[in-house]
Amino acid sequence: MSDVPFKNPGWAGNTGEYDLTEDQVRGDEFVGTRPIEGGHPSGSASYPYMLPDKDPEAPLFEGPYKDRFEKILTRYPNKQAALLPTLGLAQEVRGHVSPHTMDGVAELLGLSPAYVRGVATFYTMYNKRPVGRFLIQVCTNISCNLCGADDVMGAFLRYTDTELGETSEDGYFTVVEAECLAACGFPTCVQINSRYYENVTPADVPKIVEHLKAEGAGGD
Ligand code: FES
Repeated sequence: MSDVPFKNPGWAGNTGEYDLTEDQVRGDEFVGTRPIEGGHPSGSASYPYMLPDKDPEAPLFEGPYKDRFEKILTRYPNKQAALLPTLGLAQEVRGHVSPHTMDGVAELLGLSPAYVRGVATFYTMYNKRPVGRFLIQVCTNISCNLCGADDVMGAFLRYTDTELGETSEDGYFTVVEAECLAACGFPTCVQINSRYYENVTPADVPKIVEHLKAEGAGGD
């Protein structure tokens, strides 16, 4: 592989340039391993699930978010086609996509509220209600399930002191089941916000949770 800087064509339509070499992008650093801080960001990383500050009442969109919204519009032939990334941006600002937010997006894009709700409720990556700072999605689909995903799920619920789908009292953790995360070769796969954790066993869970708590306490 070459050391020539790799111009990432972007995912989710992001046309940003990244200061990464091809080796870093395509390398095997994270394949088959599970660093405690998580693996590579998933495709959803263009729109991180959670940031420290989420405001469900924040405007759609102002400042840098307005710039990003306008940039999104330039990438599609019409406003309707820009619906998915616009919902993603709204979630980034507000933390979840409530019916109120869906209506706001509908107005921005000149679509009917019913259409936007139909799309937003179809996709699980849009949180329809508030989630904790760390959204822990444990894959319980077939491959992971055969390799002990239920025990991994149980461990996450125990160590975060939550019920499935509920948010912990400190606001840090929401644990949910996920369908196949497309990392079937590395079961159990867990997506935490935008990062993948692969080959997770119940024994790994306390360390991961402690790491997340420390990260949350650091405010980054
Ligand atoms: S079954 Fe878990 S990632 Fe595919």
